[in-house]
Parts: sequence; C-alpha cells; structure tokens
Amino acid sequence: MISKTMQDALNAQINLEQASAQLYLAMSAHCQGKSFRGFAHWLRVQAGEETAHAGRLVDFLLDRGGKLELRAVAAPSTEFGGIIQVFEQTLAHERSISGRIGALFEQARAEKDHASEVALQWYVTEQVEEEARVGQVVDHLHAVGDQGGGIWYLDSKMGKRTPKA
Ligand code: FEO
Repeated sequence: MISKTMQDALNAQINLEQASAQLYLAMSAHCQGKSFRGFAHWLRVQAGEETAHAGRLVDFLLDRGGKLELRAVAAPSTEFGGIIQVFEQTLAHERSISGRIGALFEQARAEKDHASEVALQWYVTEQVEEEARVGQVVDHLHAVGDQGGGIWYLDSKMGKRTPKA
C-alpha cells in the first residue's frame, strides 16, 4: 500500500505530466500557425509522450492501491515567440520536470518506498533522454538561426519524428 504522502506527490506529478502535454499541444499549434508543420508535428508527438508519462504513473499508483486524484490542468500561454524561443522554453520546462522527478525520487528514498524508487528510475532515465533530445534541437536552431533556408530544412527533419512504440 502506498503512503498518503507518496500518493499526493504522484498525483501532483501526474498533473504536471498532463500540464506538459497541454503546453506542448499549445506550442505545436503556435508553430503550425507559422506554417512550421515539422516543428508542430514534433511537439504534437511530444504531447502524446507526456500523456503516456501521466498514464504510466496512473497505472503505478493504482497497482499500489493508491487513489487517483485528478486536478485541473493549468492553461498554457498562447504566445511563445519565434521557433528558437519555443524550443528554449521546451528545454527549460524539461529541466524543471527533471528537478521534480529528482525530488520525487528523493522522497521515495526517504520513505524507504522501494517500489516507487524503482518506478521513478524510468523517469530519471527518460528525463536524461528528453533534455538531450531538446538540447540538440536548440543547438541546431542556434546554428542555423531563425531566418533563411536552414530553418526550413530543420522543419522538414523534425516532421519525421515517429512516436515511441
Ligand atoms: Fe514527461 Fe517531458 O517529461
């Protein structure tokens, strides 16, 4: 049986994952509005992954006999600036999520909740991957700038992202 404090913390993380999905959907729409369909696609796939992250935590919580307590999901902004800014904000967001996962992991450890600690290891690894992936996009965007042909080439590459199986 999961502790009430860990249940609350996992419910808060589920809400954050859902808020991440909402944020990336809004960013995707922002890019699509500027005709950057590749960046929009990439962010739409990312939104789907965030929903999957929330679902994985829901399953874990329920498997431990916990109670799912969904909360209102924060409404994201509708304005994100240029494409470089969109992905800089994405990277900052992922870094903040990594911090939250780290705090959750510490809590599991402090409570000697081994099952939660093991489940959260997946998220620790996932955050390393997410930060690296977004960091690479930011580097590429800085290399080509947001004017000229380079960004359209990147847009076409971003459009090839496939969802995780
Ligand atoms: Fe679910 Fe992008 O962290």
